[in-house]
Amino acid sequence: MKIFQKYFLCAVGCVTLGLMSSCGDSNSETAKPDEKNQVKTWTIGMSQSNLGEPWRVQMNEDLQTNANKHKNLKIIFKNAQNDSLKQRSQMEEFINSKVDLIIISPKEAAPLTQVVAQAMKRNIPVIVLDRKILGKNYTCYISADNKLIGEAAGKWIKEHLPKGGKLIELKGLMTSTPGQDRHNGFVNGIKGHDFETIFEADMKWLEGNARKEMESALARFPKIDVVYSHNDPGAHGAYLAAKAVGREKEIMFVGIDGLPQEGQIYVKKGILSASFEYPNGSDVAIETALKILRGEKFDKNIILPSKYFTAKNIDKGGEYIK
Ligand code: FRU
Repeated sequence: MKIFQKYFLCAVGCVTLGLMSSCGDSNSETAKPDEKNQVKTWTIGMSQSNLGEPWRVQMNEDLQTNANKHKNLKIIFKNAQNDSLKQRSQMEEFINSKVDLIIISPKEAAPLTQVVAQAMKRNIPVIVLDRKILGKNYTCYISADNKLIGEAAGKWIKEHLPKGGKLIELKGLMTSTPGQDRHNGFVNGIKGHDFETIFEADMKWLEGNARKEMESALARFPKIDVVYSHNDPGAHGAYLAAKAVGREKEIMFVGIDGLPQEGQIYVKKGILSASFEYPNGSDVAIETALKILRGEKFDKNIILPSKYFTAKNIDKGGEYIK
């Protein structure tokens, strides 16, 4: 009987500890997990801006794969379907259901800044993955350096078109920070060379939009030397538009993302001349989430390294951007 009582008390104690930490006190000692005994399961809310692009589908898959390595982690995914207001209310749902930690890959910076602050105020740690919010009121930010990637793309184009040329820039959503950074970095990268931007458009990260924009550029300009697109779907859309009018061989296409099943294949097929990798950071996000939940040390801002792929280096797995 005594032994039974002892175990009962222990079980109640453990459950109580579990409940306490799931109520937002996730940095405290009481939230420390005991993976061997499976005492505590942590619930992570993942707010994804959309699942219309392969890069984001891959991010969610990788987050789940990395979380599966830890028996005490559970992820609830919500897809905002490219709608900032929807993403805001889905974040509020996570806050109200008192998840232990939130990972957000925000659609846009300004409309999602406040709701991240709301979570922080309720002691729910927030990892911002990929696109930024405004300011620094978050627990951790993880991404590759978009300015550096844009700059590397500019330098690469400069090197491969030393005489300069007529350029088209297809921008990602300019209310999202990677769009702004990939543009500013690129401008630095091509500086001092004879490039003329004859056409630029915000294709909002979408292949269909990029294709349409490129159709109108092709109709207006008899000579186009290079298309720099802020992502690979955009570069592919532009390529398809050029191919439809038999002009794809006169133009160099450069994109960003470098997924094995997307950008890297395009490079292998000769559709893109270069694709710059934008790692989704899911492994680092799960690793950091655990550190935060366990009350361990972590870095507030984590910058991921990035590679680039061209016909020359793709067989050896690309090269790191310096
Ligand atoms: C997917 C995507 C990627 C791009 C990233 C930037 O939604 O457009 O193609 O690299 O978002 O945040």
